[in-house]
Amino acid sequence: MTRRAFLALTMLAVSACGGSSDGGTAPVTPITPNPTTPAVDTTPLRTYASRRNFYIGAAIDRGFRFTGTEGTTFTNTFTRQFNMLVAENDMKHASLHPAQNTYRFTSADSLVAFADANNMKVRGHVLVFHNQNASWLTSGTWTPAQAKQLMIDHITQVVTHFRGKVMEWDVVNEILADNGTLRAGWYLNNIGADYIADAFRAARAADPTVGLFYNDYNVEGISPKSDSAYKLVADLVAKGVPITGVGFESHFIAGQMPQNVDANMQRFAALGLKVHITELDIRVPTPSTSASLTTQAQNYRDYLAACMRFPACDVAVLWGFTDKESWIPSTFPGFGDALIFDAAYQPKASFFSLQAQLK
Ligand code: XIL
Repeated sequence: MTRRAFLALTMLAVSACGGSSDGGTAPVTPITPNPTTPAVDTTPLRTYASRRNFYIGAAIDRGFRFTGTEGTTFTNTFTRQFNMLVAENDMKHASLHPAQNTYRFTSADSLVAFADANNMKVRGHVLVFHNQNASWLTSGTWTPAQAKQLMIDHITQVVTHFRGKVMEWDVVNEILADNGTLRAGWYLNNIGADYIADAFRAARAADPTVGLFYNDYNVEGISPKSDSAYKLVADLVAKGVPITGVGFESHFIAGQMPQNVDANMQRFAALGLKVHITELDIRVPTPSTSASLTTQAQNYRDYLAACMRFPACDVAVLWGFTDKESWIPSTFPGFGDALIFDAAYQPKASFFSLQAQLK
């Protein structure tokens, strides 16, 4: 039963219990729910997920700082539903490494402790990214050898700090431009194309068992960009570079899902790699409508179903979980409501479609 149907039923029941203009003399027939209406399944996502050895997660650090009642509702909803946590920003270079010889782990550590206290795994995001690097790094002047050493030092310090506490790392993030060539950015420009393999090797040296991922967007279906990603990854595997998997960010628009998701997951999995969904959200034009939210729910259902057909796809992380707190409205003006709880923390149709898949 949807929340709206539940409210309608409640209002009907309330109006049947007096308060009407008949002076309260008419016999009251109690309204009972239609026995064919299925009961709402209140089982948390993580309960179903863990029965399948599956991780269902969300990125949370901005909402995590909510205080008061909202803070409690936010964290209670999160811990009830999810068995994996990702820091939305708190593990990025600019957050962790504000000066060349200064690391600041406080916020990230509190997220990791919170995850641990709530029996959740942590995905580490992110070691090497063209965005959100500290300005001391990007505005400095470095030789290629110095730049490479700075990257390796950062990876070594961070992976070592979180060793045993993080299940897998996004080692390199968004390394391809939309046309499939290597994306220009501080690492490519200052170190050269070898930075990718070097980053994986440094991460592996710091932690012999943690999962190591290449994470990107617009690589979820078959496309020229995902063809490039596939070639790049196949080449890393052929060279023995320690890569564990590929992260499909999965920032989608309802009704415009990528094509051939199955075939794409299949080819990456066939390289012996994990394929994880790492930043899922499915935005709709705002204000949303019941039609757009229905399409969104179908898209969530079909996408998770595709993932779950592959043993290699055993992680799906949402980029947030409530429409109250999401990067979408400010990044894609005119869009929003991309997640599975509404802004009042009520489950949306998209929640129930993920729940039905995980069941
Ligand atoms: C986004 C965060 O959600 C925002 O809060 C921040 O302002 C910018 O970065 N791909 C990624 C994530 O890999 O790190 C990005 O996160 C979203 C796109």
